[in-house]
Amino acid sequence: MTATAVRTAVVEARGLSKSFGGFRAVHDVSFELHEHEITGLVGSNGAGKTTLLNLIYGRNSITDGRLLLDGTDVTRQPAFRRVRRGLGMVFQHTTIFPTMGVRENLRLGALRKHPGADPSSPDEIEAMLERVGLAEQGDVEAATLSHGEQQWLEIGMVLLAKPTVVLLDEPTSGMTKAEAARMADLCRTLIEQQAVRSMMVVEHNIDFIRHISNHVLVMHRGTIIAAGTIDEVQHDQAVRDAFLGRQA
Ligand SMILES: Nc1ncnc2c1ncn2[C@@H]1O[C@H](COP(=O)(O)OP(=O)(O)O)[C@@H](O)[C@H]1O
Ligand SMILES: [Mg+2]
Repeated sequence: MTATAVRTAVVEARGLSKSFGGFRAVHDVSFELHEHEITGLVGSNGAGKTTLLNLIYGRNSITDGRLLLDGTDVTRQPAFRRVRRGLGMVFQHTTIFPTMGVRENLRLGALRKHPGADPSSPDEIEAMLERVGLAEQGDVEAATLSHGEQQWLEIGMVLLAKPTVVLLDEPTSGMTKAEAARMADLCRTLIEQQAVRSMMVVEHNIDFIRHISNHVLVMHRGTIIAAGTIDEVQHDQAVRDAFLGRQA
């Protein structure tokens, strides 16, 4: 990035917190998601990563703090309103319709995200089948797909709603190494082609993050303990103690 480039904050979180009863799953988290950027979110199990994505998407209500989408305060807006503003989320546990066909899922997925919107054209559906590698399986029941393929289907359903900001929660879980590499390619392509303005990706696998982004947030016990490039955070002592150091 050049020194003169303006970094536009597409998503801005200011002191976001979430309590479940008395338990603070997310505490005072602030960050920005920028245009043309993929932000990695790493941290050990139970760190609060999924809860944080749910706060952005609107699946969980925000206990404290503010959330801005393109400068508009959406803190109290329900998920469907945020979706209409362009948010899309790929959940870790897929929300596909298992007894329906793959192509049918894609049609319904696009509609579900944008109730009342024009359905995707047949051409768009076929192009998405290609893009997510399911062109041969358009007519099979979604339940018969492998876990990895179901993740791809979920991603296709989300992308057909043409989101501008995409949150992905461990998108490579259940995927083979080859599938994970294709997932990294897709993430990069979406940003490079400006099909998506900004992305946040939760991943356990730091090598996956390295392939798609050089900007990461590290979460531990509900807070962001470090932010920066992968190299920066890997050399951060608090991070080494809390998370990455254990993998060395
Ligand atoms: N709906 C909920 N009710 C109560 N506790 C929850 C709920 N969702 C998450 N938690 C707790 O919040 C903490 C963070 O969970 P989560 O966000 O799923 O972490 P991560 O995705 O980093 O593994 C965990 O201790 C989890 O048990
Ligand atoms: Mg999680």
